[in-house]
Amino acid sequence: MDEPAIVTVQQHILKEQHQHSPTASGSFSWLLSGITLATKMTEARVRRAGLLDVIGAVGNTNTHGEQQQKLDVFADRALAHCLCLRENVAIIASEECEDAILFDGRAGSGKYIVVFDPLDGSSNIDVNVSVGTIFSILEMPEDARFSEDPTEAVLQPGTRQLAAGYVVYGSSTIMVYTTGHGVHGFTLDPSIGAYVLSHENIRMPESGNYYSSNDAYWETFPEPYRDYLTFLRKGGMGRRYALRYIGSLVADFHRTLLRGGVFLYPPTDANPQGKLRLLYEANPVAFIAEQAGGVATDGRQRVLDVTPTDIHQRTPLIVGGRSELAEFQRFVPPGERESNASRELLDVGA
Ligand code: AHG
Ligand code: MN
Ligand code: MN
Repeated sequence: MDEPAIVTVQQHILKEQHQHSPTASGSFSWLLSGITLATKMTEARVRRAGLLDVIGAVGNTNTHGEQQQKLDVFADRALAHCLCLRENVAIIASEECEDAILFDGRAGSGKYIVVFDPLDGSSNIDVNVSVGTIFSILEMPEDARFSEDPTEAVLQPGTRQLAAGYVVYGSSTIMVYTTGHGVHGFTLDPSIGAYVLSHENIRMPESGNYYSSNDAYWETFPEPYRDYLTFLRKGGMGRRYALRYIGSLVADFHRTLLRGGVFLYPPTDANPQGKLRLLYEANPVAFIAEQAGGVATDGRQRVLDVTPTDIHQRTPLIVGGRSELAEFQRFVPPGERESNASRELLDVGA
């Protein structure tokens, strides 16, 4: 019997580039290969975390005052190293670094900016629960080419993303990405060291049976959020919802993408602006969700419409199927800043 034809992520991105931009030079595929290489280096460490000296904290804190885990630092360095070797990358920005980094000599030539959360779900590393890497790719703006401060170039709304993706280091290692032409998933085949197409054209179910939020903060969720969750719990959608919450955004979102339902990280007393970071957690997730037919809001407007003012700014995130989000917006109406796009997104599903 013939072996099934395999499609690697590099082949897929090249095919997509040629389909949608015939003049593509392949530079995007070259950039993506830098990200996939870095995630394979991280995956190798995650798989052997208990055997190598990568468990535990480094002993210092990152820009957010959070204990840096050794794997946070390793994953961050792997991405910085691999992306520096991609001459078409001008700037990177990482959860683990205060400032954006402009690679020497790339201001005039580099086409891309890569923003990333190198290791998402750090609190789960030592207990063998799925963690991940999240990335977002932006275009280097012409007018930012010669500014000394690379931060300005990074502060673009999520609608400007050229591509976004994540890797879940779980029971298998899966990369999911979009370039605006649907959402596709690739499973790492360790026997050949390649990400192989396993989930083409992923569509988020219109509705599901799970809600995903850290109910330990229930008392500090805004009341409309509590009313919405009570509505789900009591069968308001015609069925009872179960709670699934892993504490790694990549894993909680990946389940929501494949099974439907809703993930929420609302405003809380501890994080009145939400805990998740807009640029390298909420935006890539929102881009993927919308490309798969889902909806992502910050409780007031479409996540992708928010213009960032700080690389590490936080946001509430409510992301899921059209029907869960349509109900959500009955309890938590969009703010005056709501964009028409989010209304259109929901009206289509109404
Ligand atoms: P990171 O490990 O990159 O800091 O991200 C952790 C985030 C996200 O992965 C997850 O959804 C959220 O923190 C969990 O927060 P709580 O522990 O407050 O529920
Ligand atoms: Mn994270
Ligand atoms: Mn992280």
